[in-house]
Amino acid sequence: AVQGAMQKAIQMAPDSFMPGGKPDPLIRQQHGHIGKPISRLDGPVKVRGEATYAAEFPLDGMLYAALVFSTIAKGRIASLDTDAAEAAPGVELVMTYRNAPRMASMPLFMTSEKACGGNDLPIMQDDRIYWNGEPVALVLAETQEQADHAASLIAVTYDADHSITAMAAAKAKGTEPGMFMGQPLQFATGDAAAALAAAAHRVDETYTTPRHSHNAIELHAATVAWQGDTLRVHDASQMVAHTAWSLGHVFGIDEDKVHVTSPFVGGGFGSKGLWQHQVLAAAASKLAGRPVRLMLSREGVYRIVGGRTVTEQRVAIGASEDGRFDALIHTGTTAMSRHNVLPEPFIVATRSAYAAGSMALDVEVAYLDMVANTFMRAPGEAVGTFALESAIDELAVAMDIDPIELRLRNEPDKDPTTGATFSSREVEKAYRDGAERFGWAERGAPGSRREGEWLIGTGVATATYPYYRMPGGAARITLRRGGHATVDIAAHDMGMGTATAQTQVAADRLGLAMEQVTFRYGDSTLPGVVMAGGSQQTAAIGASVMAAHRDLVTELLKLAGNDSPLAGLDVDEVVGVDGGLAKTDDRTRHESYASILSRAQRDEVVVEATPPAPLETMHWSMHSHGAMFCEVRVNAVTGEVRVSRFLGSFDCGRILNPKTAASQFRGGIIMGLGLALMEETQFDERNGRIMNPSLAEYHVPVHMDVPAIDVIWTDIPDPHTPMGARGVGEIGITGVGAAVANAVFNATGKRVRDLPITLDKLL
Ligand code: MOS
Repeated sequence: AVQGAMQKAIQMAPDSFMPGGKPDPLIRQQHGHIGKPISRLDGPVKVRGEATYAAEFPLDGMLYAALVFSTIAKGRIASLDTDAAEAAPGVELVMTYRNAPRMASMPLFMTSEKACGGNDLPIMQDDRIYWNGEPVALVLAETQEQADHAASLIAVTYDADHSITAMAAAKAKGTEPGMFMGQPLQFATGDAAAALAAAAHRVDETYTTPRHSHNAIELHAATVAWQGDTLRVHDASQMVAHTAWSLGHVFGIDEDKVHVTSPFVGGGFGSKGLWQHQVLAAAASKLAGRPVRLMLSREGVYRIVGGRTVTEQRVAIGASEDGRFDALIHTGTTAMSRHNVLPEPFIVATRSAYAAGSMALDVEVAYLDMVANTFMRAPGEAVGTFALESAIDELAVAMDIDPIELRLRNEPDKDPTTGATFSSREVEKAYRDGAERFGWAERGAPGSRREGEWLIGTGVATATYPYYRMPGGAARITLRRGGHATVDIAAHDMGMGTATAQTQVAADRLGLAMEQVTFRYGDSTLPGVVMAGGSQQTAAIGASVMAAHRDLVTELLKLAGNDSPLAGLDVDEVVGVDGGLAKTDDRTRHESYASILSRAQRDEVVVEATPPAPLETMHWSMHSHGAMFCEVRVNAVTGEVRVSRFLGSFDCGRILNPKTAASQFRGGIIMGLGLALMEETQFDERNGRIMNPSLAEYHVPVHMDVPAIDVIWTDIPDPHTPMGARGVGEIGITGVGAAVANAVFNATGKRVRDLPITLDKLL
């Protein structure tokens, strides 16, 4: 029945996916707040140090927590001596499996509407150990220093069981087909193996990418207190409503009894969901009867939160004499723990990227006993495009075709795997505009450009990330007689400018000034269930606000009545303008909100509405697109790689705020430079221990590693999304790995297929 209903919905007019069954009128709007480079509204409070982060809420009588982590990958705790810790100065409580309250496991991320646990393992419920780094004890003390010291006095011994911590051992046990978001990560059309064998030209290579750990500048933290039977959580979160529901599940209480707020977040990138630290903080607070602050150490983030997992990818392309792909094969293996939901889906971008006569895509999963891997900016696409876009460059070199030209010869006119029409796809324009601005034509043959010790090369790669819109639930709009509107939705601003861009959008929709709109977010008691993830938050919020706005206008027209210049008009005939409503094609028929509400003797109108299900992604193939251009200088003596220029040319629909969007693009590209050149979690395959859990030993780009990054965009609205916008959050990291690797090849003639591209691989 569900399938039938879905089929029917898909066959309906595409605009039926928009609230009211009409395209968003803001898609066409030209000269309002949308498109202005407005600085982040939260900027001043942050610069003044007045923005309060999760670990900065001072609560009366608060205790500080420190954790002790297991040092084996699997087994049991043999002995656990907490006497010295309990006797240490300032210590209030030591919590272990012996005294922790009974709790359910976290409901695993995406297994139901609001489930957001990073793993579904028991949390300090018995003596079993599931990964190297699992929390085995928690100390509460009057100061952080006392808690940290006491934690160092806890002595633990273990009985280790046989564990699988090496990729080869995991693969030897057999792999399983990966599934992602309910969809198989396998796809085949035609006989790709035969087509590859018969092709006039071919490449067939293996690309490998390492583990990556999350390193948001703000450490994961929660400040918690039990107030009666309500659990109050100050969290750093990209999913407050999900976290409230999931914590309620763990403690056996209703989600209404958990109040999660997260007004400011210092970076998330997929990592700021529910992990064991929030649960342990709440459990310890319950035991101690006092508020608790638990901020993970940098090491703690590596031990508990995990990150992107290792991949081994084969990309094989067979092409005809004219460069058209006869076969496109992208298969391989990723590591995963048994207790999470993310088989790094590295073929997702490949599904819709190129026309090919035959395709074979497959992600196989090898299971290890390790910290749960998780979502990290463009999970799948970030490392999948490294392999795919490197292979295309290799083919271009083999065929002596310009790599941009080779890509454009294989532009699909329909989605290659679903047959759906693209909602909007301007890959060619992104390449042409980028090539001109970057000066692509000045490129030389591999190894042909040199200045002193420095070899110079350029490379390109396609960037892409899907458009998603998760069912976001309701938004509420409160319009006051004085002409001020408040938009309420349980969404998030992790620093990317959500509140700023959404204030622009709401002000345009309502016909108000920026100052007349307040966008409230980051509080689980607000309506809506919106995750800041999948680069979909803007669309999700947009659809919810569109639905609420439609109800608001309907209500206002009712209140306006027959004495209004708006008399007789319906919701589709009016537009918000100049602090009121006007007939769309005759703006002299205008009445202000103040006038409508005064006549109706109302102080305010409050509406709350839920948008239609996000079926547009089933009707259309919807993706953000881009072209990445990189120039590197490689030192011929030392092998050192310096990125000297970078340009991202994007096609992400309408750009709502050029300033915040540019920052998103640049931030993604910088993270991509880290992926290309330095990031690598050192994982000890003998025991599953992460060996470099600190920013001293896990390298990310610093300012000296980052050149001026140029970003441009098509700004062509997508007719099938709210506001005409597609996501900008994750696409920036995609394609960067390959653009750098391809530039390194152009500079040196050396092909590096194993990330990161460190100098030892170039000597
Ligand atoms: Mo993102 S990895 O969906 O926060």
